[in-house]
Amino acid sequence: MKRSFVRLIPLLLLAGITAPVDASDTVPETLREAFAGHFHVGAALGRAVIEGTAPGVQGLAARQFDTVTAENDMKWENLQPEEGQFDFGISDALLDFAEANDMQVTGHVLLWHQQTPDWVFQDDTGAPAGREQLLQRLETHIQAVAGRYRGRVHGWDVVNEALNEDGSLRASKWLEILGPDYIAQAFAMAHAADPDARLIYNDYNLYQPAKRDGAVRIVKALQAKGVPIHAVGMQAHYGLGHPEDLQDVARSIQAFAALGVDVEITELDMAVLPFPQGSDGGANLDENFELQERLDPYRDGLPEDVAALQAERYAALFRIFLDHEAVTRVTFWGVTDAGSWKNNWPMVGRTDYPLVFDRQGKPKPAFEAIMDLVR
Ligand code: XIL
Repeated sequence: MKRSFVRLIPLLLLAGITAPVDASDTVPETLREAFAGHFHVGAALGRAVIEGTAPGVQGLAARQFDTVTAENDMKWENLQPEEGQFDFGISDALLDFAEANDMQVTGHVLLWHQQTPDWVFQDDTGAPAGREQLLQRLETHIQAVAGRYRGRVHGWDVVNEALNEDGSLRASKWLEILGPDYIAQAFAMAHAADPDARLIYNDYNLYQPAKRDGAVRIVKALQAKGVPIHAVGMQAHYGLGHPEDLQDVARSIQAFAALGVDVEITELDMAVLPFPQGSDGGANLDENFELQERLDPYRDGLPEDVAALQAERYAALFRIFLDHEAVTRVTFWGVTDAGSWKNNWPMVGRTDYPLVFDRQGKPKPAFEAIMDLVR
């Protein structure tokens, strides 16, 4: 476990090595330092952050976080938009940025039903690809991507969102063409491409008991086959009203830990805006509701009482994370409220405030609340 330098300051004082400092100087002021020894804290970086065109955000991310994920740039549609034509420009830049700032990288994502080009699932005539063809493409992609970053990417989201809300397997093209074994195939291929990488099954709404059970079945099936899996990734796109009972999050962490795998909180945010009726309250990208002003009440700013409520819930969640040794990483899905995907999902054009840094990159009450847990 890492020890942060600030914790040594009292010892140095005792030894008379350094002049006395004000107590506030010993307060860890960055998430990466404050939570060292508990878990890694990270953020997803969008293209503007990776390329440094979002003013100040890259520096903020480098100071605050010790692990990063590409928000979009390691998805299939960006890495291999056409068959055999790989574009690693932005993902290479992310790796360079991470290494320059002593950060881990999580690769997101090797297999998903979203943001994957149509050609992957089609043969030359546009008819559905056959099983062998699709397996071959999957292997080529995983070898090229996980192989390229072998030894540099700490862990991979190998399979993303394979489950329906009831815990059954989602009827994706992967399932249709390859059958339920596709999950094991992907994990085995990832392991072959980078034997030292930590392999993650990632999904949203895993706090819900039925979906939690589905993930437990996935982990057990891999373990029964002797295929490596190291962690379950709980996306954690939450809101002020959901999960209704935060203990459901704790129960899921415990259920996964009991299988001997770690838990990584992979895509944390806490929307303050209501979900429209008909949403499954998770992160299903197919949802796209028409903009309703009534569901966009904070265009002019986040009211103090709402910020306080969000802070309280963030603190309660982090208390749960701190209570469970199985939690090895907590990654926010974005750096500042301005760059959050929640401004455009599940409704385009709203003003949400789901992260712990505001639109100017200043710490919000939620930041103070989670830091208070370790100060
Ligand atoms: C989102 C990105 O944040 C958006 O920029 C993009 O338009 C759509 O995808 N679950 C995932 C992430 O695993 O990859 C998604 O990211 C959010 C839901």
